[in-house]
Formats: sequence, C-alpha cells, structure tokens
Amino acid sequence: MTAEILDGKRIAAEIRAEVAEEVEKTRFALKRPFHPCLVAVLVGEDPASQVYVRNKQRACEKAGIEGRTHRLPVDATQQQLMDLVQQLNEDPSVHGILVQLPLPKTGGGDSGFDERAVLDAIDPLKDVDAFSPVNVGLLMQGRARFLPCTPHGIVQLLHRSQISVAGKHVVVVGRSDIVGKPMAMMLAQRNSSCGRDVANATVTIAHSRTEDLGAMCRSADCLIAAVGVPEMIQGDMIKPGAVVIDVGINRVDGRLVGDVAFEQAKQVASAITPVPGGVGPLTIAMLLHNTVLAAKLQLPSTLP
Ligand SMILES: NC(=O)c1ccc[n+]([C@@H]2O[C@H](COP(=O)([O-])OP(=O)(O)OC[C@H]3O[C@@H](n4cnc5c(N)ncnc54)[C@H](OP(=O)(O)O)[C@@H]3O)[C@@H](O)[C@H]2O)c1
Repeated sequence: MTAEILDGKRIAAEIRAEVAEEVEKTRFALKRPFHPCLVAVLVGEDPASQVYVRNKQRACEKAGIEGRTHRLPVDATQQQLMDLVQQLNEDPSVHGILVQLPLPKTGGGDSGFDERAVLDAIDPLKDVDAFSPVNVGLLMQGRARFLPCTPHGIVQLLHRSQISVAGKHVVVVGRSDIVGKPMAMMLAQRNSSCGRDVANATVTIAHSRTEDLGAMCRSADCLIAAVGVPEMIQGDMIKPGAVVIDVGINRVDGRLVGDVAFEQAKQVASAITPVPGGVGPLTIAMLLHNTVLAAKLQLPSTLP
C-alpha cells in the first residue's frame, strides 16, 4: 500500500482564496471600508520567529488583510509587553493580536516573561490564536468563536480530503495547549466547524508518560503526532490503513522533518501529511480566517 499524500499546501491556498473573497464580500455588503488588521508582537531577534512573523504578514497582504508587526527588544520588561497588549486591545483599527511564541528566555525582568499572563491579557475578541482562557473555555463547551489555528487547519484538511473520523479511534500524541489538547477536544465534539464527520471521534491523548506508546498508536484509525521529536513515529507503530497527520516541524541537518518517519509510514498508512507542505500551511490559512472573523465580530453593526 502507498498512502495518499494529503496536500496541505493546496488546501491552504483554497482557504486563503476563500478568506480573500470573504473580505471582498464583506466590504461590498457593508458599503463602507472594511480593513481587517492583524498585529504580530515580536519580542527579540529569534530568527525562526522572525521568519514566522514575516510569512504571516505576507499571507495577510495577499488576502486583503493589513499585517503589522510590533517589535520589542530582547531585554523588554514584562510591563512593557503588557502595556503594548493593552494598547492594541484598545486600538479599534486592530482586530487580531498575535504574540509570537516562545518569548525569549532572557527578557521580562529577573524572573523572565510570564507568557501565560501576556496571553491572558489579550482581549478575547482579538485573540485570533484562541489561546485565552475565554476562548479555550468556549471550545471545551463546543461553542467556540475562534478555533486554535493548527488543530482547526487539521479539521479542515480532513474535511476537505473527505476523511471522516466519526466513530473512529483517534490517537493524538502530545498534550500541549496549542495543539494536542485542543485537537483532541475538537475531534471529540458532537459538531465541528465543518460538521459531524470531523467530530464524534473516540479520542485518546498520549504523551511522554504513556505506557506502550507503540501499541496505543497501532490502535488508532487516525494518528495525529504533535510531539516535536523527529521521526519518532515509526512504520511499525501505525495500523495498516490508518490516516496519519504529522504536526511536527523539526530541523535536522538543515532540513525539515516531521514527527513521523514518512518513508516507512507511507507504506502502511492509507493517507498521510508530508512535512513540509502538510499541516504547516494550514495554520497560517486559519489565522487569516480568524482575523477576518474577528474583524466582523468587532463591527459596530451586525452583518446581514
Ligand atoms: N505545523 C504547525 O503549524 C505547527 C504548529 C505548532 C506546533 N508544531 C510542531 O508540532 C510539534 C509539537 O508542538 P507542541 O507545541 O505541541 O509541543 P510541546 O508543547 O513541546 O508538546 C509536546 C508533547 O509531546 C509529548 N512528548 C514528548 N516526547 C514524547 C515521547 N517520547 N513520547 C510521547 N509523547 C511525547 C509531550 O509529553 P509531556 O506532556 O508528557 O511532556 C508533550 O505533551 C513541534 O514539532 C512543533 O514545532 C507545528
């Protein structure tokens, strides 16, 4: 068996085009200016973070969204960062706020940055990453406004590839607040953003303390790896015919590899995402989607 390669790049381009169309449609319906604006806050000079922020800004521009970047020096204080977030919360021309993580270890004063306090300070209506307690709580209850971008991208990828997880066993390896936990929650809901086929799964969350991870993974009809360990999921950990979603982005000898040993896995799986070109592009597409949604939610009047 050779797996179908799930083309995240193509699906992300499709979603980005839909977002651009939504901006145009809203402008037309409103008959007055509609300028969604996403602000990225970048602290320090980390090269990977700079690339991520630049890519997000470019993607914004292509979709008719204004992308701004606010930079703070690596030795900025926690208070400076909190003040900036507050200023952006109060600025009506800003609809989405994204604080690029991780924050540098060196800044933030003597005890370093309190990342949680910064994320908690973002106005939930501008929290396009959906990391604030309000948005996480709404997700838990199945009434989210914004869905976190990476897991939402995976839901879209499954839906648009006509892969149903309803009634199936999904194993999510990784329990981070950004990927693993919201991913599990979204697939276990009664309804997802795109319907019941990409919800209603029986979900297991595995992590570094899981006993016999191999057996756990082999029981999965759909295996989602969000670990951050290069090629940790080997071919013999995959059930024949399973769908494999690789969230991992790891740099090894100058090239990007996922958390799944792709060459082995594609001989066993029925469908698999590549790295790069799988989940990554979808994350940015869903961020654009959330920014336009945020701008619409912040309109003074309700749209038709
Ligand atoms: N494609 C994208 O757009 C995108 C977006 C976000 C992240 N990522 C990538 O996805 C990966 C995960 O990111 P993250 O932020 O979720 O990472 P994270 O916060 O470091 O969480 C990693 C999770 O993996 C678990 N884990 C680590 N080693 C393990 C092992 N040997 N066996 C089983 N579980 C293990 C950890 O378990 P414990 O909780 O027990 O420590 C933890 O729950 C990274 O490669 C990251 O770069 C990609």
